Amino acid sequence: MKPSQLIPVIFGLLGPVNGQCSASGHGTPGKSSGSTVSLIATEFGTVFDAPVTIGDQTFMLLVDTGSSDTYVMQSGCTCINATSNLKIPQEDCLYSNKTYHKSKTYRPVRGEFFGVEYGAGLASGLMAYEQVTMGNITVEGQKVAIANVSNPMGDGVNNGLLGLAYPSITSAHPLNDTSNATYWYNRLVYSPLMNTMYDQALIEPYFSLALAHTPQNKSTSFGGYMTLGGLPPVEHSSHFSTVPVEITDNIPLWYTSGKKTRSYWSTTITNVTYGSSMSNLTSNSTSFQAFFDSGNYISYLPSAVVDPINALFSPPAVYDSSLGLYVVDCSAKTPEFGLYLGDQMFFHDGSDLIYQTGEGFCVSSLGSSEDVSLGGLTLNIVGVPLLKNVVAVFDFGKNEMRFSKKLSS
Ligand SMILES: *[C@@H]1O[C@H](CO)[C@@H](O)[C@H](O)[C@H]1NC(C)=O
Ligand SMILES: *[C@@H]1O[C@H](CO)[C@@H](O)[C@H](O)[C@H]1NC(C)=O
Ligand SMILES: *[C@@H]1O[C@H](CO)[C@@H](O)[C@H](O)[C@H]1NC(C)=O
Ligand SMILES: *[C@@H]1O[C@H](CO)[C@@H](O)[C@H](O)[C@H]1NC(C)=O
Ligand SMILES: *[C@@H]1O[C@H](CO)[C@@H](O)[C@H](O)[C@H]1NC(C)=O
Ligand SMILES: *[C@@H]1O[C@H](CO)[C@@H](O)[C@H](O)[C@H]1NC(C)=O
Ligand SMILES: *[C@@H]1O[C@H](CO)[C@@H](O)[C@H](O)[C@H]1NC(C)=O
Ligand SMILES: *[C@@H]1O[C@H](CO)[C@@H](O)[C@H](O)[C@H]1NC(C)=O
Ligand SMILES: *[C@@H]1O[C@H](CO)[C@@H](O)[C@H](O)[C@H]1NC(C)=O
Ligand SMILES: *[C@@H]1O[C@H](CO)[C@@H](O)[C@H](O)[C@H]1NC(C)=O
Repeated sequence: MKPSQLIPVIFGLLGPVNGQCSASGHGTPGKSSGSTVSLIATEFGTVFDAPVTIGDQTFMLLVDTGSSDTYVMQSGCTCINATSNLKIPQEDCLYSNKTYHKSKTYRPVRGEFFGVEYGAGLASGLMAYEQVTMGNITVEGQKVAIANVSNPMGDGVNNGLLGLAYPSITSAHPLNDTSNATYWYNRLVYSPLMNTMYDQALIEPYFSLALAHTPQNKSTSFGGYMTLGGLPPVEHSSHFSTVPVEITDNIPLWYTSGKKTRSYWSTTITNVTYGSSMSNLTSNSTSFQAFFDSGNYISYLPSAVVDPINALFSPPAVYDSSLGLYVVDCSAKTPEFGLYLGDQMFFHDGSDLIYQTGEGFCVSSLGSSEDVSLGGLTLNIVGVPLLKNVVAVFDFGKNEMRFSKKLSS
């Protein structure tokens, strides 16, 4: 089985942007208020990047709760067209022209290579130990991936990705099998950045995101905040809903090294509500499991849920089978849509339901999860559209997520 589109972790690459691919302290747990970094939103508010210092260089990395590796592209990297598998110019990979070069704190990891497969493509290279800093938190000897091969996955600003999911889906592998058909097997599981920061007593065992609402027609803007071991500096309700992080049901056991263990930030959604207006809402309490993915600008939910909602745009969003998405008028009137989490309903802001592709048309940010399934596996994904409306806390110590309504944009 090779479900090549199983995990559409980074899907938001519609807008063409030019770029080049050339490219310890000790906190006291319980006393720190955490460390906050500001994010940049790119690709019309679909991709969120955070500054991360690796060795002596600072890169913008895509903030991805839907994967677990932190990788950065090294100089002279090779860009490969995902369709034709042919080598294409480095700048076509759309990474920034920043170059990772070996710093004084670089140490090679012997006998391992890095190979990851996202919905948007592949990246591979070597594993290294490096000093990594976010905000005022620095860890020594963090395993990171230094990639020298990638499909086009950049946004013109970032130079790699910051993986924030569980250790079980990290993508280091033994050197004896480097075929890119096996990136979902043979894992040499390691501690991702957030887990290491906690293990070294630098942060509480959680991080939080407050993604900003972005103007529809602005390609790059302020993207909100990520806070390590604390809450972001935005106004929010004091009422947090708590949901457990569950083992993702629909992924096969081989995907997590034969172990039944947590991988993505999954939970069960028991109730959704939608309608043309707040005074005309329909609820559907059929439950389904979904994971929270800051690296996905589309929320992929059961078609039985998204089809009726997409029909409620005025004019209605129309399914385009070549895109696998629903095309909608950029200025359509948006429906109401809420997801019930814990003990409260979280509604989307209308502006979050329409995304500018940058190619002269807009799409609904609600897609059908059946469209991205393969081999009968369907994964529901709650992406950027909902995250722009909440303060979301990802707690790997308690294995729970907490959500509070954002009161500012
Ligand atoms: C980082 O800065 C925050 C806010 O100033 C502070 O509370 C925290 O203790 C600092 N952490 C470290 C490891 O210096
Ligand atoms: C990749 O290859 C496909 C098919 O050969 C082609 O249509 C597409 O334009 C190529 N993309 C890039 C970025 O080279
Ligand atoms: C994946 O492997 C195929 C077959 O070996 C190769 O043609 C392709 O370039 C590889 N792609 C990447 C991104 O490594
Ligand atoms: C990288 O891009 C920036 C902004 O486009 C430019 O100012 C800089 O000269 C470029 N650096 C290299 C090494 O190409
Ligand atoms: C990438 O790095 C690996 C490990 O050093 C090497 O085997 C491979 O040839 C490199 N690939 C390219 C395209 O540079
Ligand atoms: C690679 O080595 C591991 C043990 O380290 C072994 O289980 C696996 O079968 C080997 N794979 C290949 C393709 O030789
Ligand atoms: C964005 O631009 C398009 C086309 O230029 C226009 O139709 C649309 O109304 C604009 N949207 C906003 C929110 O300004
Ligand atoms: C309420 O919404 C449904 C579709 O969900 C529509 O058929 C009906 O006309 C609406 N009623 C009012 C009063 O707007
Ligand atoms: C679903 O949410 C709506 C709106 O909050 C509520 O009226 C309804 O009772 C909920 N249904 C279930 C089964 O929880
Ligand atoms: C509710 O959603 C489920 C899928 O989660 C679907 O099978 C069912 O048809 C939906 N019910 C209504 C009334 O839309």
